[in-house]
Amino acid sequence: MTGFSADWLTLREPFDMRARNPSILGAVAASLAKYPSVRIVDLACGTGSTLRALSARLPPRQYWKLVDNDLGLLARATATNHPDDVVVNAVPLDLNRDLEGALDGPVDLVTTSALLDLVSGPWLERLAVEIAARAIPFYAALSYDGTVDLAPRDPLDATVVAAINAHQRTDKGFGPALGPAAADAAITRFQSLGYSSKQGRSDWVIGPQDQDLQNEILAGWAHAAREIDALTLSDTAAWLTRRRDLVSGGRSSLRVGHVDVFATPIGTR
Ligand SMILES: C[S@@+](CC[C@H](N)C(=O)[O-])C[C@H]1O[C@@H](n2cnc3c(N)ncnc32)[C@H](O)[C@@H]1O
Repeated sequence: MTGFSADWLTLREPFDMRARNPSILGAVAASLAKYPSVRIVDLACGTGSTLRALSARLPPRQYWKLVDNDLGLLARATATNHPDDVVVNAVPLDLNRDLEGALDGPVDLVTTSALLDLVSGPWLERLAVEIAARAIPFYAALSYDGTVDLAPRDPLDATVVAAINAHQRTDKGFGPALGPAAADAAITRFQSLGYSSKQGRSDWVIGPQDQDLQNEILAGWAHAAREIDALTLSDTAAWLTRRRDLVSGGRSSLRVGHVDVFATPIGTR
């Protein structure tokens, strides 16, 4: 599975759903509760997980503009069944090139999930300025924060976690990525633009029974560690073998730190 493959997004979605911070979700819903209808732009929608997480909490008449640069993911996102009052449009766009196009037209809420850790500081700055210029609230879920707990522990875990956090900062198509610094950077930037913000944890809690997700994550981490040459091939392979043995023995669990953010313009809504 690759970083943004439909299979990977499908595997992680139940964990994302469980992880989304309920009080942030509640704050997003409460901010739009009095609207007769709402217009939402979801940036980097993937297969539409934010639509599925949020739609039932919003006023029934909804217009969703789902933006992604992957046509296969967009096709899946629009194939989801929705109530008649929920109108969903797929907009294929490269957000690095044409962020402004994604935000065109009247919008009541901008959402994203699992995107901010992939973007650069300058791109986040562009996003914050564009959203603030339109005085739109912004909900960003599931930004990785650099914290990982693996149990039971292995002597190489800390080296691998340091490697994935270094890999997180490499370019993912938007310039050098913010990685674990993304949520804090977003909060700081939106506050400086006159927004108030709430944040809450949305950690993945992955138990011994969740073997498929654990194996995918561990393989991805080993790949990332090798890509930046943080460990030798033999150390990486030995680490992965030991961790996979723990997974198949039903003895491994993981906690992967994420943060959800909701930023709202002060005094305009
Ligand atoms: C980690 S996935 C998150 C998908 C979805 N938001 C979710 O939470 O399941 C990142 C998404 O960003 C999209 N993406 C990456 N670079 C992009 C770009 N330059 N323009 C638009 N979308 C992009 C990918 O196609 C993918 O759907």
